[in-house]
Amino acid sequence: MKNVLITGGAGFIGSNFIRYLLEQDLDVCIFNLDLLTYAGSLENLTDLPDSDRHHFIKGDICDRELVDKIFTENFISLVVHFAAESHVDRSILGPEEFIRTNIQGTFSLLEAVRKHWQDSNNEIRQDVHFHHISTDEVYGSLAPEEAAFSELTPVAPNSPYAASKAASDHLVRAYYHTYGLPVTITNCSNNYGPNQFPEKLIPLIIINAWEGKPLPIYGDGQQIRDWLYVEDHCRAIWSVIQKGKQGEIYNVGGNNQPTNLEIVNQICSVLDMKLPESQHTPHFELVQHVKDRPGHDRRYAMNIQKIKNDLDWEPAVSLEEGLQKTVTWYLNHPDWIEKIRKQQDYQSWVKNNYQGRDQQ
Ligand code: NAD
Ligand code: DAU
Repeated sequence: MKNVLITGGAGFIGSNFIRYLLEQDLDVCIFNLDLLTYAGSLENLTDLPDSDRHHFIKGDICDRELVDKIFTENFISLVVHFAAESHVDRSILGPEEFIRTNIQGTFSLLEAVRKHWQDSNNEIRQDVHFHHISTDEVYGSLAPEEAAFSELTPVAPNSPYAASKAASDHLVRAYYHTYGLPVTITNCSNNYGPNQFPEKLIPLIIINAWEGKPLPIYGDGQQIRDWLYVEDHCRAIWSVIQKGKQGEIYNVGGNNQPTNLEIVNQICSVLDMKLPESQHTPHFELVQHVKDRPGHDRRYAMNIQKIKNDLDWEPAVSLEEGLQKTVTWYLNHPDWIEKIRKQQDYQSWVKNNYQGRDQQ
């Protein structure tokens, strides 16, 4: 059995990945290191199948002493690194934590593995693996006619979040080239699905519409994102870990590019269908255009040919099916929503981000 260190496993994608590994009955024992910031919650890890193979450790990836202790006490041979500050809007209001966790934290992990994964000749062992989770946002923004991002697209991050992720990608790459650390990187587009913190667009829209609150659309709502159901992302990560080539980057995406207004419309139609008696139907009428995000990237699109050709991965869940599943999950989990919002000072974030963003 492989001992795996997963960082950020109490967050949205990390917790889905842990569930995926345990559900697939893969031969792993999981050590989940998570600081439980506002975005992380043990509520995301309830009812795990075979939970004896999941060990939660509350702590900071920047804490070298703790990270060293985890490596010393457990024979870790795979690291899957999700932990990050992940919300673009928060990085605009307060970038410092993004620099600390995303850059300093990744550096701290890389230094730990460099120390603990040396063999008797002080060479890095080759039977180990560091997989880094990154984002399409490192590539910047596309004009309407431009080709989708490939792994060869130069990085051009536009937000403090994207810049901090690009910096962490570079560090991982440098440890491969300089020290021969066996690494892989996935750069993925926008994820959605169960357990996503309700400040990101899709859960925010589902919950606000359900409660009859305004649906805030930044600017004209014509920005384009590529959406991937989270389980497809988990499958892609595992494929890259199993079959990917060391030192390589793989782009991951959902092969769809709706505008924000289109996706909000789709969510509202699902809610109209599921809640025909609601006094807020048709939910799309709740849309309110508000002041745009500063430096807002206009368009993302992912070229996923490499992972398709080399590893035989492609998305299995269509946007339509994924949105149905996601809306159903949120409607079935009002307690999760309430606990998350109460525990983590959600209301003060809503106030900070939306107050003064007057209707346009
Ligand atoms: P999230 O914000 O939901 O979860 C982040 C987790 O990291 C939380 O559990 C948090 O407690 C933990 N964390 C934060 N700082 C930490 C620290 N210093 N030490 C230990 N743990 C810490 O994020 P997510 O949406 O699940 O994203 C996970 C990863 O995937 C991130 O690296 C993000 O950049 C990347 N990514 C996300 C998306 C997306 O659409 N959500 C898309 C592509 C890539
Ligand atoms: O592209 C991958 C990235 O996707 C990940 O790296 C990030 O971790 C993840 O947060 C996400 O970033 P975005 O900024 O694209 O996601 P968000 O859900 O915040 O916003 C999606 C789009 O919706 C974006 O164009 C901004 C817009 N938006 C968002 C919010 C919260 C609105 O119009 N109104 C809103 O209230």
